[in-house]
Amino acid sequence: MNKKDTWRVGILFSTSGVTSIIEQSQLNGALLAIDEINAKGGVHGKAIEPVSYDPGSVVKKYGELAEKLIVEDKILVIFGCYMSSSRKEVLPIVERRNALFFYPTLYEGFEYSPNVMYGGATPNQNSVPLANYLMETYGKRIYFVGSDYIYPRESNRVMRNVLRQGGGEVVGEEYVPLNAGIARFKSIIANIERTKPDAIFSTVVGQSCINFYSAYHKTLGNGIERPISSLTTNEAEIAEIGVEAAEGHITAAPYFRSIRSESNKRFLESYKAKFGTIVDVTSCCEAAYCQVHMFARALAECGESDTDALREALLGMTFQAPQGEIKIDPDNNHTYLQSRIGVVDSQGEFKIKTKVRHMIKPDPYLVNPEINDWSLRAQKIGGD
Ligand code: ACM
Repeated sequence: MNKKDTWRVGILFSTSGVTSIIEQSQLNGALLAIDEINAKGGVHGKAIEPVSYDPGSVVKKYGELAEKLIVEDKILVIFGCYMSSSRKEVLPIVERRNALFFYPTLYEGFEYSPNVMYGGATPNQNSVPLANYLMETYGKRIYFVGSDYIYPRESNRVMRNVLRQGGGEVVGEEYVPLNAGIARFKSIIANIERTKPDAIFSTVVGQSCINFYSAYHKTLGNGIERPISSLTTNEAEIAEIGVEAAEGHITAAPYFRSIRSESNKRFLESYKAKFGTIVDVTSCCEAAYCQVHMFARALAECGESDTDALREALLGMTFQAPQGEIKIDPDNNHTYLQSRIGVVDSQGEFKIKTKVRHMIKPDPYLVNPEINDWSLRAQKIGGD
């Protein structure tokens, strides 16, 4: 393959700073997909070439580096971002320059851009099944703890409404800075001890998520009796928290490393062959992997890296992902996804307790009646 003549794509995931654990896993997912595509001859005989910058988990940097990719490097396809605040920096830049931005992260919803492909879950795909599970399994009194930025505050607003619809109650709501250390959680844990909620809903992200679970364990034990539930806490973070502290805690996500399926087996084998370990395979890593593969299929169909043509090819596309079948919704650029609930077992692995039977249509504005449709309740499946 001629190395000079490549399809260059921009990559903006942080390998340093507070969200680097999860963003490194997203970077790995994207790079793995690129390797797989190139190993099969690339697209129309040309390799995909990643041009990757590290924004250092600094929100403003994502916008600056998106501008650099587009203006200096002349690249119009970008994969990147974990925190919603960083996505909000990139958004006006890709819109102004008509670039195509792939965002492989769950988020709070209430957004649409023709220049963004949203690959992570929206609240109807993860908050609704989680609220049902918590209220059925543990009780209706839930305590919210979050990092202080847009995703936790908006995600909590949606979660509060969902819980209320099911007769639940929010008994506390607190926010911590993104760089919160263990000591910052002391008063919150005292409040939890005093309030005695049935479960916690955590939107604490990055390194401070590890600090929160560790602080919780020191005073209140693991999650078997009173779990911390989350939409973000993932395999890589559980490995850092350690099994003793993490057992019993809950995450709702489209993908878990522990899914037993042929497509996931192939994905994990391929990941291990490239990176030597699967310890940091997460749902956001899988989302990045899927989005790169879907982009390559669209590129093969179009034969040119043109934003408008690629968008047309992507809308409605289905893909057999490690999580199961997914599809880009032509109504809103978000993705139909699977929905599962995993509980950390005594080996530190997410044991999948329930799964919704079909991929769920994304409803970023929560306009459809599904929010009231308790058939979204996850089915107990004993497994995959
Ligand atoms: C997030 O900030 N969307 C996790």
